[in-house]
Amino acid sequence: QELQMNLEQIEKGGYDHFMLKEIHEQPSAIRDTYRGRMLVKEGIIRMAGVDDNIEKFINANRIIIVACGTSWHAGLVAEYIFEDIARIPVEVEYASEFRYRNPVITNKDVVIAISQSGETADTLAAIKLAKANGAFVFGVCNVVGSSIARETHAGAYTHAGPEIGVASTKAFTTQITVLTLIALKLAKVKGEISNSNYRYHLQELELIPEKVQKALESDEHIKTVANIYKNARNCLYLGRGYNFPVALEGALKLKEISYIHAEGYPAAEMKHGPIALIDENMPIVVIATKKGHYEKVVSNIEEIKARQGKIIGIVTEGDTNVKRLADHVIEVPETLESLSPLLTTIPLQLLSYHIAVMLDKNVDQPRNLAKSVTVE
Ligand code: G6P
Repeated sequence: QELQMNLEQIEKGGYDHFMLKEIHEQPSAIRDTYRGRMLVKEGIIRMAGVDDNIEKFINANRIIIVACGTSWHAGLVAEYIFEDIARIPVEVEYASEFRYRNPVITNKDVVIAISQSGETADTLAAIKLAKANGAFVFGVCNVVGSSIARETHAGAYTHAGPEIGVASTKAFTTQITVLTLIALKLAKVKGEISNSNYRYHLQELELIPEKVQKALESDEHIKTVANIYKNARNCLYLGRGYNFPVALEGALKLKEISYIHAEGYPAAEMKHGPIALIDENMPIVVIATKKGHYEKVVSNIEEIKARQGKIIGIVTEGDTNVKRLADHVIEVPETLESLSPLLTTIPLQLLSYHIAVMLDKNVDQPRNLAKSVTVE
């Protein structure tokens, strides 16, 4: 018993929980994901699974992304970047819906399956269906040799290292990193991105690990914010563009480990429903970084303020506008809009973590949830 406890302490590497350890591992996990694949000076991205099948990607009519849970959110972020820079139409599907929908799939489709565990039953079934209909299926998995890794035609591992906490953290950011590399590679090969813009993306992606590190330094401040809102019954998360999926992921993290009801919404959709919920008891996390619809998000914040909602803004370092309006702001370093999800996700992970700890919940093994869902 005692030996067991000690072993677990060692495995947690000095952190109270695996989740916290995994949150803090993100700078090195992201670096491990692009290491050897992205040669910044040479301006090269090489990924065997993509290089060997480049014609399939280039000639694809569309990319269909299938996944569940947090991996599905990574797919949504990928949709923005694939369409934005590589100009390939993308559909993102819940694997569980896709598999039973009699979907239209042809041999001109590329299906990307995203899965941390590589064992999710619905995702595996979606892959089999896509293969049976002639699609080329590419896997983005973390667990090496997993069922999905074996079932797909080709793939790229995230190299995040083992993720033990049920609530996914480093798997999410490394999935986005892999998908960003693929999007950049395809944009380059297709001639959709200028040389200088491509180079700029590579340089900025290389800087992400140190910027994540910087974002992690807000931990103490985030703890203070967590303490103020830990007894909330509901919480709303808003974001636009690239940061809309981050809002969904932030809400999911809070639900999963603190059992507080939370919803993520595209900021502009607020007026079509959620605004009715806003009063002085409703905390609203708004992702309002400088690049990407900033003015529009600021006006959403004004609407929330007019209804006495409590605003927690996730802002770019040095922001003054949102600071004036929000009850709290949490800063993240500046980066390209397309890479901002890798930074804005960090404070949302920490916020849910601290709230769950303060509420004395089982952070690493929340009730009713499993790390990998191998049954329907
Ligand atoms: C479960 C886990 C989530 C995960 C989802 C998909 O619900 O608790 O953290 O996002 O499955 O898992 P996968 O391994 O396919 O990414």
